[in-house]
Amino acid sequence: MKSLIVAATLVVGVAAAGIAQASEDLAKSSGCTTCHAMDTKKMGPAFKEIAKKYKGNAAAEGKLVEALSKAQGHPAVKASPDDIKKLVKWNLSL
Ligand code: HEC
Repeated sequence: MKSLIVAATLVVGVAAAGIAQASEDLAKSSGCTTCHAMDTKKMGPAFKEIAKKYKGNAAAEGKLVEALSKAQGHPAVKASPDDIKKLVKWNLSL
């Protein structure tokens, strides 16, 4: 029984890591990492800084998706609307 719980926890952990990796790859392929890094400021703030800034702000996701989609207060990005949603969700979950 115990090993079953350990196994289940492992599977969940690996799946979560897989999603995080996929999103990082998406950020790279969408050009976000030209201006953003995970931990350090480049042209734009670090993804982890952005997550900290908006922690607990329920309106952040909608606001950021809109800013990125319409290039308002943010440089234009080439990601699709779907990808922008995914990337903002991922960013805020960091
Ligand atoms: C040409 C450079 C550039 C690219 C490419 C870029 N960003 Fe940014 N980003 C910036 C700058 C500069 C800021 C800071 C602007 C500000 O303070 O509002 C920023 C801010 C942000 C913010 C925080 C906005 C806020 O209101 O605090 C998010 C979220 C973000 N970027 C996500 C992304 C994502 C996701 C991508 C890829 C689809 C991306 N960025 C691509 C330059 C860029």
